[in-house]
Amino acid sequence: MPNFNKKRNSYLSVFLLTLFFMPVGCVQKRLGIDNSPQYRNGMVVCAYPDAAQVGLDILKKGGNAVDAAVAVQFALAITLPEAGNIGGGGFMVYRSGTGESNTLDFREKGPAKASTDMYLDPEGNVIPDMSLYTHKASGVPGSVDGMVQAHSKYGKLKWAELVQPAIDLARNGFKITKRLAADLNRNAGQFKKLNPGKTYFIKEGEWKEGDILVQEDLAKTFEQIRDKGREGFYDGVVADQLIAEMKNGDGLISKVDLKNYHSVWRKAITGNYKGYKIITMPPPSSGGIALLQLLQSVEKYPLKRWGHNQDSTVRLIVEAERRVYADRSKYLGDPDFYKVPVDSLLKPAYITARMNNFSWNAATPSTVIQPGTFVGYESDQTTHYSIVDRDGNAASITTTLNDSFGSKIFVKGAGFLLNNEMDDFSSKPGVPNMYGLVGGKANSIQPGKRMLSSMTPTIVEKDGKLFMVVGTPGGSTIITSVFQTIINVIEFNQRMQQAVASKRFHHQWLPDEVMAETGALDSATVIKLQAKGYKITYRGGIGRVDAILKTQQGNYEGGADPRGDDTKLGW
Ligand code: DON
Repeated sequence: MPNFNKKRNSYLSVFLLTLFFMPVGCVQKRLGIDNSPQYRNGMVVCAYPDAAQVGLDILKKGGNAVDAAVAVQFALAITLPEAGNIGGGGFMVYRSGTGESNTLDFREKGPAKASTDMYLDPEGNVIPDMSLYTHKASGVPGSVDGMVQAHSKYGKLKWAELVQPAIDLARNGFKITKRLAADLNRNAGQFKKLNPGKTYFIKEGEWKEGDILVQEDLAKTFEQIRDKGREGFYDGVVADQLIAEMKNGDGLISKVDLKNYHSVWRKAITGNYKGYKIITMPPPSSGGIALLQLLQSVEKYPLKRWGHNQDSTVRLIVEAERRVYADRSKYLGDPDFYKVPVDSLLKPAYITARMNNFSWNAATPSTVIQPGTFVGYESDQTTHYSIVDRDGNAASITTTLNDSFGSKIFVKGAGFLLNNEMDDFSSKPGVPNMYGLVGGKANSIQPGKRMLSSMTPTIVEKDGKLFMVVGTPGGSTIITSVFQTIINVIEFNQRMQQAVASKRFHHQWLPDEVMAETGALDSATVIKLQAKGYKITYRGGIGRVDAILKTQQGNYEGGADPRGDDTKLGW
């Protein structure tokens, strides 16, 4: 016994000494203390420090959440070229301080010349990379129209004030982070191959942290947008440059496509989870429906008792995800083209029936799970930012070019990157896209149709008041990352930063495997899961969640994903 005490005391002194010499932040982290700053007047959480600063400046100037969102969207198009964009699209979920909600769909559309079999060879096989790294990979961009629409409905400050920071960042340049330098270096070969001539992203030698990235063409493009609004992008010199690029590269987008592009206000879909109201994105996102299905599937189980990322919790969630993603493959698509059975997919009796063949004895093989059937139904590198203002208005926006840097093709002279969102359509029934997602008729390619998305910008209410603003990039893993972040807070009492930083796992029906971040599952859990037939594979990072929580005291607390350069600022 004395020996044991001696040993314990020496362990204790080593521990205390270590704490003493550690920086304060590290100590707090070790001890599980979250010292996240809290703010009263508003917050911006987004994927690049300079863009977060732009958003905060707008809030401080008296702009509201939508003003800040417009400014952040454009600032990210300069500072986060892999995902921030004007050549792509996205979704916004909005909730006013007085409780009205709305959503804006500024998702890209298939050009008029697109066709169902456009990526198939004469034998009917998908031509590799055609929907990804060619001019034909681009849908008609929606971001600029989306920002114009959002601003004209809800904005308070002048449009030009919201665009100017992007012009300044493009013209004067900004310091690149280590991560951006690495991203640019990694893609240099592709940029060179796909863009004959010069681009700002190619440099003699390698990019380094702290280098200044200047994008003068993009500054000029933004001047057009600042001065002419929608017409500055969909008409005039920028449109001419985009059409010339299409002609050069055998792309499909025409002047008429640009003129006809309009974003759409859609009624938010909503659901409940243990008294919390979930306000989220309807189709053409699959994310909102899938999120509500997942929450319903797990609601009656004691997740809190089982514990975060513990065996039973993981198994239940994986089995729910398997079923939800199977449904996604068959029933989700653009509601303007395909009758998505929203009500049937969300009926409590349907969700219960879907989970009926879940067994604690063994994993349900994905071959056994098919998309569900309902009686009476006739058959069909992204970035997220969360903003709240002093009046409690909240904007949750996810925007994308699809892959990192989209198609990696620049519009010559205009300086912006083209999306490769066409890959989110199903090129051929059952053939997986770049995220391994399969689809069929509901998500087949058609002119003017929007490709199905997983983007899940979401706002959560508690007792009729704002509770959380949340979303993430991550392709197919978006839905499960948003889901896990929400339950991390509601079930596992995690603070916002911890809920965002917590390790995640994911299952999407096909392939039949649990994808987990390194460290997400402890070894005992892994052994138990494997014994029940679950195959586990590991991935570097799943999602980059940026979220804001309103505390009981009415303060805002942010969660900026440590997986990226994500930044939270408030005042
Ligand atoms: O809309 C979608 O679901 C995809 N285009 C999102 C892509 C994405 O999140 C890539 N980011 N890591």
